[in-house]
Amino acid sequence: MKVLVIGQGGREHALVWKLSQSSVVTKIYCAPGNAGTASDAENVQISDDDIPALLDFALREKIDLTIPGPEVPLVMGIVDEFKNAGLTVFGPTKAAAQLEGSKTFAKEVMLAAKVPTGDYGTFDDIEPALNYLKERYGGGYTREVVGNETEEDWFKQPASGRSPVMYQPIVVKADGLAAGKGVKVCESYQEAVDFVEECLSGNKFGEAGSRVIIEDFLDGAEASILAIVDGKTIIPLEASQDHKAAHDGDSGPNTGGMGAYCTTPVVSPEMMDEITQTILIPIVHEMKRRGCKFSGVLYAGLMINKQGPKVLEFNVRFGDPETQPVLMRLKTDLFELLYAAASGKLHEFEGLEWDPRPAVCVVMASRGYPDVYKKGYPIRGLGAQPGTKELKVFHAGTKLEGGEIVNSGGRVLGVTAMGDTLDQAKLNAYARVKTIRWEGAWCRKDISDKARPEIEAPAEAPTEEPTEE
Ligand code: GLY
Repeated sequence: MKVLVIGQGGREHALVWKLSQSSVVTKIYCAPGNAGTASDAENVQISDDDIPALLDFALREKIDLTIPGPEVPLVMGIVDEFKNAGLTVFGPTKAAAQLEGSKTFAKEVMLAAKVPTGDYGTFDDIEPALNYLKERYGGGYTREVVGNETEEDWFKQPASGRSPVMYQPIVVKADGLAAGKGVKVCESYQEAVDFVEECLSGNKFGEAGSRVIIEDFLDGAEASILAIVDGKTIIPLEASQDHKAAHDGDSGPNTGGMGAYCTTPVVSPEMMDEITQTILIPIVHEMKRRGCKFSGVLYAGLMINKQGPKVLEFNVRFGDPETQPVLMRLKTDLFELLYAAASGKLHEFEGLEWDPRPAVCVVMASRGYPDVYKKGYPIRGLGAQPGTKELKVFHAGTKLEGGEIVNSGGRVLGVTAMGDTLDQAKLNAYARVKTIRWEGAWCRKDISDKARPEIEAPAEAPTEEPTEE
């Protein structure tokens, strides 16, 4: 079977690597890929949003299964185009991809499906947005809990009568796709006002920011659920936990994800059942009811606290870097799973097999990321080894230049390892991290510590200080 993976990040490298272990896959192409996918597949120089060129290639090469990695081609409608041409493709249609392409659409679906999520308002114009901010958050953002007052009681009071004490950030989101930069957790009322203005009048994100969502902040532990769906059958993969903040202890700016581990104690088997019953099934039913059956990866980004799980966001693709540790643990043939989903035959699929050992992925990044960073530094220490089933350096922002592998993106590598325990998996990943160097390389030192708050970061792991060659 011939497979085309579309994209160029760590997620796509992990997909290519896992597909290469399939007994039925004979050839894997990756478009456009990176320096890592070049060693596990054949890279094709077509950009991930050039749908006509991708379609021509897939038809010419008689590709049996296409797997678009990133959200952009999905939201553009690549699945519809490929299906219309008679090709088998894993992912949601353009209409169903709106679950990630429009945060307002996702909220409307959640509301209709009675799926738990934060209260919100959605706005196209500045004045009503600022009025909502003032009315709901009273021009402030902290309050004290008085007596038995619940959060709901507090919100019901007029702004002027509310007690001031509990810390209450405000979340503002650009409605459309904004390359991971469209969500801001505002620490002050003024920050929320500024971000709303930047989106709605400052054109910060162009069309994607011409509508905003203002949402209550949700507290708790985050978890990522990736579920394989074929329109009716849902097979959740094991849960993982991402680390979105740039620095240790979840401080610093938001990033695409600085590391992840799988599985996470935040999602017990009982919690996974609750998530399936209260979130995944209702969403898949509601999408079908609306005439846009969901097929592909339903990625639920959750906040879990004593009140149960609530949805922060939906994505319609594999998470990055969550995919790296999740797929390292998957023993089932990935091609068979995704092909069954793309063919509407997931109900025939007989469960999944997992390696019981935990896996940890540590992202190594370029100096300056998530802001401005320099590219083109040669990466040392990658070695000729292709990796093993227990330890793999997944490439994200890398490319071949003048015979050397250099950094070409902000998130550069996802060093992923398994271990008999989570501590051992973490040690194995960081031991490999220490052998890799380029100018400005850095990583978080505490990936997976959220599973065990008492764990100290390893003293010798690279810091965010630049490392000169
Ligand atoms: N790791 C977050 C995402 O894939 O959106």
